[in-house]
Amino acid sequence: MKLLSTRFLFLIIFLGLSAGYSQDKTLISVKADQNAPTISRHIYGHFAEHLGRCIYGGFYVGEGSEIPNTMGVRNDVVDALKALKIPNLRWPGGCFADTYHWKDGIGPKEDRPSILNVWWGNVKEDNSFGTHEFLNMCELLGTEPYLSANVGSGTPQELADWIKYTNHPAGTSPMPDLREENGRKEPWRVKFWGIGNEAWGCGGHMTPEYYSNVYRRYATFTTDWNNNDKLYRIASGASSSDYNWTEVLMKNIPHHMLEAIALHHYSVIDWGNKGPATGFSEDQYFTIMERALMMEELIQKHVAIMDKYDKQKRVELFVDEWGGWYDTEPGTNPGFLYQQNTMRDAMIAGATLNIFNNHADRVTMANLAQAINVLQAVILTDEEKMLLTPTYHVMRMYSVHHDAKLIPVSFVSPQYILNDKAIPAVSVSASKAADGKVHFSLVNIDAHKTQNIEVNVADLNLKKVSGEILSSENLGDHNTFESPEKVKTTSFKDAKLKDGKLSLSIPPFSVVVLEGM
Ligand code: AHR
Repeated sequence: MKLLSTRFLFLIIFLGLSAGYSQDKTLISVKADQNAPTISRHIYGHFAEHLGRCIYGGFYVGEGSEIPNTMGVRNDVVDALKALKIPNLRWPGGCFADTYHWKDGIGPKEDRPSILNVWWGNVKEDNSFGTHEFLNMCELLGTEPYLSANVGSGTPQELADWIKYTNHPAGTSPMPDLREENGRKEPWRVKFWGIGNEAWGCGGHMTPEYYSNVYRRYATFTTDWNNNDKLYRIASGASSSDYNWTEVLMKNIPHHMLEAIALHHYSVIDWGNKGPATGFSEDQYFTIMERALMMEELIQKHVAIMDKYDKQKRVELFVDEWGGWYDTEPGTNPGFLYQQNTMRDAMIAGATLNIFNNHADRVTMANLAQAINVLQAVILTDEEKMLLTPTYHVMRMYSVHHDAKLIPVSFVSPQYILNDKAIPAVSVSASKAADGKVHFSLVNIDAHKTQNIEVNVADLNLKKVSGEILSSENLGDHNTFESPEKVKTTSFKDAKLKDGKLSLSIPPFSVVVLEGM
């Protein structure tokens, strides 16, 4: 282990002593604020691309399958996602979206053309899962659809037709009539529309100046044409720290035609050498957590640019792709991005969702990439088998924050130190639900140290507290089809409430959610 420099040590001790952190305790103060924002439930959104086994085998097995299903969608998956109360689902990509022509995926299945999925493994895409299958599945899940439109290789007309097909009443133009012919009378009324995806990369390798103009053209035809449903037009936003992308979009796109900008940020060690999803070293864990915690700085800096052009915060910030990205599992198709999910992923999820909650005034949607069998999935499947990942458990525990009022917290985190580097070990967010219940989500990412925490809750008038914890013996622990419940939550009884103070100790690499009332 390298020695810490004296300057670095001094800085840590100084920061620790000067603001709410004594060597053995982290002091957190909370301030219930009437003007605090509501945490949009859409921060807990998901993403389903035609990639690997996310749609086919993951969500959709077809009506003829022996796997129990409803309209071809796996019943086990529907139940699991309903328990998460997933607020929205983004589809059909991703990079796939800019190659997707939606008219290929409607009408009798035997008449639908097959295409090659050129981004993801060059496999055959038979279009058996299309607009009807996706939007009906969203109804089954009780979730809002978020359609990502093809800007890279599509046309504004194609997008305008898709809006009329999905949203307009029958009898008003040929598209809704076609929908009715295909078996669906009532429109689905899709609200969220992505105008391209990663326009700086797989969506067309555009410059921000060029994309701004393209966006303006597409956005002009992305309207409800007085159908009285306000649409969200979502611009393809920056990759991680490309602040110039946000600057140019905010400057060049009139804000009356821009409801949100979508940032993408993945936690990856190195795009050329991502490291394994399991069996990783502590060094690799630390680097991944550094990348995940970078979300705080990214949001602050992108928001500062947005604030410069939009003081009223009219334009929202979505983070519609985020999560950990590792090497694919040995023996699987590298184009399918299938990876296991460990306690490390639970740390990414817990810490990142706390960051989103604490920025709820501008961050109003986020989509974990991706829901099933791809990247940081909440569900893995193997034929008829299904398991819930550690990330799933975090998402479920945090669902208490959906549409709750943020309670701002302030504290100085102790540091998790490895070699000569340090990152904050503790992350927290808090909210008050409509029924008056208060929730705290606390994460300790330190691989070794337990954190002693004291929260001053005098302002909140709490009488009792209960909790749930996700922890495990090893950071690399994960669920397998042979042992699907190795990592699971248990009730947490160690939080003490006394004299307006809440005290607890959080074990290394664990997530705790407390409920007070
Ligand atoms: O989520 C996988 C891919 O990552 C998406 O298709 C793309 O948008 C991003 O680069």
